[in-house]
Amino acid sequence: MIQEFEKIKKVKGMLSLPGDKSISHRAVMFSSLAKGKSEIYNCLMSEDVISTINAFKNLGCKIEITNEKIIIEGKGIDGLQKPDNELYLGNSGTTTRLISGILAAQKFPTVLTGDKSLSKRPMKRIIEPLRLMGADIIGDNDHLPLKINPVKELKSIEYKLPMASAQVKSCVLLAGLFSDEKTCVIETKASRNHTETMLGLEVVEENDGTRKIYSSKKNYPEPNNITVPSDISTAAFFIVLTLLSENSELRLTNVSLNETRIGVLSVLKEMNGNIEYENVKTLNGEKRGDLIVKSSKLKNIEIPGKIIPNIIDEIPILSIAGLFAEGNFKIRNANELRHKESDRIKSVCNNLRLLGIDITEYDDGFEIIKDNTKSISKEAITFESYDDHRIAMAFSVLSLLLKQGGKINNFNCVSISNPDFLTQIKTVTQ
Ligand code: S3P
Repeated sequence: MIQEFEKIKKVKGMLSLPGDKSISHRAVMFSSLAKGKSEIYNCLMSEDVISTINAFKNLGCKIEITNEKIIIEGKGIDGLQKPDNELYLGNSGTTTRLISGILAAQKFPTVLTGDKSLSKRPMKRIIEPLRLMGADIIGDNDHLPLKINPVKELKSIEYKLPMASAQVKSCVLLAGLFSDEKTCVIETKASRNHTETMLGLEVVEENDGTRKIYSSKKNYPEPNNITVPSDISTAAFFIVLTLLSENSELRLTNVSLNETRIGVLSVLKEMNGNIEYENVKTLNGEKRGDLIVKSSKLKNIEIPGKIIPNIIDEIPILSIAGLFAEGNFKIRNANELRHKESDRIKSVCNNLRLLGIDITEYDDGFEIIKDNTKSISKEAITFESYDDHRIAMAFSVLSLLLKQGGKINNFNCVSISNPDFLTQIKTVTQ
């Protein structure tokens, strides 16, 4: 489906965005593992989280979805059941990588499959550490389908992450929940910390910033009631749209302000973005608050390599902010972008080139070169989503800002993280 956008005049009002995707996945997983009833409020109901819900239903958990909450009757440490069929995980990398750590410790075999994009994403990064733990896991050339066979028991390991990845970290820590001895994951660059926060894991931070995170049977989850904050990664599209629109002001309520996720706010504030916080509080170990965003004149800054894991999902929309900001926008040290729902370096570069913008592509990033002597296209361009929700939403925001508007091909993929994106845009724009 092609979605058309016209230029907006301004952004005004207030939005309560849906729950954070990373926290919603984990809330469903940990509640399904715990023995007994848990309730989840403001859980994101997007295609990716539905993949997690369906997987645990197929593993024998009773999951009831009402308008107000999700009620999960979890099965306990040896209660999950062999699914009747393969577990189809759609587009969801988080479901696949996290659930593999759980399934590697079960007493029954499973097969994991996914859509075209998920089947191309690298799984060696979880196969390797799980094999070190003694798991019997076979990937088709280190890709899906993954066949996970039962083993007598998993060993605890100490594992230094070869890349900054919360999915790999969480996979190993979840497998560690099934063994008496402590498993330790070492990360040199901090990735999002929801798994350790929500499971209350021991974290030791060294002077050089290295973090050691431990899990064992002792940390196996108990039933809990969880209220999920709104998704900062979803909020980022509305924040950038507001900053770049004239006479605009938007309040986003109850947004996740987890320290490992708010790099996008630091970068935009340093770019001169007018963003303020109100009503900040911590619930279920996760900080949250309202964001008040106002029109701003942005300038580009140097984005340091160490912040990349903290802004990894927001780089496509940050590049749109950078396009309108003074100076050139440059991202380096972001090779992980090539392994997302699409190769996000290519997706951003190709789409911006369609507009006639000069862009230099690097192995690990790109630079948008501003050239005032060159005119950019005056026609409404059809941008490609590459079936990647964050690319579709980033270029929707760009289309809403361009005089000539713009179109997004294969727009439906926004449902992966935010099925109500269009309604939300209509609610706050004029
Ligand atoms: C996620 C971790 C990140 C992120 C993804 C969600 C998570 O992936 O890009 O959208 O919930 O753990 P990586 O761990 O591969 O960096």
